[in-house]
Amino acid sequence: MVSEQPDNAAALAALQWLIDAGADEAIGALPCDRTALPEKKAARRNPPAPRQGEESSAVAAAPPGNPAAASPSSPNPSSRGRAAANLASASETQADAQRLAMAAGSVEDIRAALEEFEGCPLKATATNLCLYDGNPEARMMIIGEAPGAQEDRQGKPFVGPAGQMLDRMLAAIGLDRSQVYITNLLYWRPPGNRNPTPAEIAACLPFLERQIELLSPRLLLLTGGMSAKTLLNRSEGILRLRGRWDDYRHPRRDQPIPALPTLHPAYLLRQPAQKREAWRDLLSFAEAMEREGLEPVKPAPAESS
Ligand code: URA
Repeated sequence: MVSEQPDNAAALAALQWLIDAGADEAIGALPCDRTALPEKKAARRNPPAPRQGEESSAVAAAPPGNPAAASPSSPNPSSRGRAAANLASASETQADAQRLAMAAGSVEDIRAALEEFEGCPLKATATNLCLYDGNPEARMMIIGEAPGAQEDRQGKPFVGPAGQMLDRMLAAIGLDRSQVYITNLLYWRPPGNRNPTPAEIAACLPFLERQIELLSPRLLLLTGGMSAKTLLNRSEGILRLRGRWDDYRHPRRDQPIPALPTLHPAYLLRQPAQKREAWRDLLSFAEAMEREGLEPVKPAPAESS
């Protein structure tokens, strides 16, 4: 007789296999076979062969006088309907984000608005909202990509290994977290640290724009390609963008804000030879601070004993 007892050793081995494959977060209580096609999709991929004398449904659905619609590759009316519904829901999400962000009058209001916002699906899998760290009074803003595992646990950006690297980079030009405001493009961790989708970035962008509008930073440091490309509206990779000052143009401000793209601290941890380039960027940032009269607060001299 087959035993109904769960096989703990097999379950543990399966779990270990998942961990070795890179899974680091459980996002559901039950396993889910994502390779299985939902019934409808499977039926579309493998439509029953038309019987002799019958037209295929795509040809039969072609409206009179519109042969293009009869082409097997053109979307059928229901997929066009779905695309239109997706567009409508994306624009509703945008409108919702915009309305909530614009009603916020402070960073803490933005936090409350994000708690209320349901337009970013990452919220469902994240543990905590990560809005900012540092000083909302600071005139320099650092913008990263998205929270990682430790940020998700602690509810603050840049507190994991990349954050420690960022601290060392700031210290190299005489700064610490009390002199900068640190945030991200996204406020919830993408599962397994996958890249954010354009829809997730678009849903979160109004909240970043509102932070910039409320805090009026004088300089921006954009760490990594995702934030540099999004905020500067560029398509080049970070290795091309880094080290070149550009103007960030806020949708509701006349004055552009000088922005410097640089390498992401997490990238520097993987590619230490690139620290030389990051160091050049930091020196350039320090020069801009001096030009703007934003001198770092010098650390108090150590007391002699
Ligand atoms: N990487 C980021 O871009 N942001 C964080 O908060 C942590 C890691």
